Amino acid sequence: MATESTEKNVLVGVIGGSGLYHLDNLTLIEEVNPETPWGYPSSSIKICALPSGTKVAFLARHGNGHTLSPSAVPSRANIAALKSLGIRAILAFSAVGSLREEIRPGDFALPTQIIDRTKGIRPASFFEGTTIVAHTAFGDPFANKFVHWLEDRVRKVLEAQGNGVKLHTGKCIICMEGPQFSTRAESKMYRMWGADLINMSVLPEAKLAREAELSYALIATATDYDSWREEEGAVTAAEVFKTLTTNAETSRVVAATILDELHSAALEGDILTEEVGSMKYSIMPRS
Ligand code: ADE
Repeated sequence: MATESTEKNVLVGVIGGSGLYHLDNLTLIEEVNPETPWGYPSSSIKICALPSGTKVAFLARHGNGHTLSPSAVPSRANIAALKSLGIRAILAFSAVGSLREEIRPGDFALPTQIIDRTKGIRPASFFEGTTIVAHTAFGDPFANKFVHWLEDRVRKVLEAQGNGVKLHTGKCIICMEGPQFSTRAESKMYRMWGADLINMSVLPEAKLAREAELSYALIATATDYDSWREEEGAVTAAEVFKTLTTNAETSRVVAATILDELHSAALEGDILTEEVGSMKYSIMPRS
């Protein structure tokens, strides 16, 4: 699968979520649209160069022009297509609702845990439909070292912006099916379960990245307070859109600032190889 890696030398893939359909300060080198055994990715993948020459691959999760609902995102094709380019790490972005007062719309978060509230309609394994039985370790659904590496860097970028955007770490994100938002009762229940953030997109992306042995981290950008605050109106798409553009601008600054360093880290291989070999004992031996 890594045939193109040395040729293209793209070690980091960025998946942009709602509002984040491109990055800044990049020179487009090539646009590719690899067909995978699971079909085509959500969008063509833009292989771009940073001013330093470092290459990154960018994919728009919901398609160019936002044509795919979260339930329709071809996550297997997305992850397989990125893997086929030889990337080792995925830095994903996603708009999220906040289930905690202190995580204000506009704030950023790095989750370390996930609760799955998708409804089983999204293909969530590369092994589905095959005769291979694989049980992937997913207790730590994000690449811990990668997430930890991001903490200081993202916080520094946000502080330098000076606009009060905070970074929250060690949070639990709940991934729901949608496309409707949660009821107030569900929103309150998720808080009781210990969830801090809610979105519709981190799964099955994170599961598939693990099966592909790629380091995966999510930068969650809060757009709303979902529907748990009694005195406030329940979340609407209009409310989400209000914060989306500002969050996307900040996400682009974060990406532009850290991607070079991330590429070096991937090259040195010290933090971004933590999932390599993680599938070794996941496949059930045949008797
Ligand atoms: N994405 C952004 N806000 C959300 C919310 N409140 N629920 C689910 N997904 C979201």
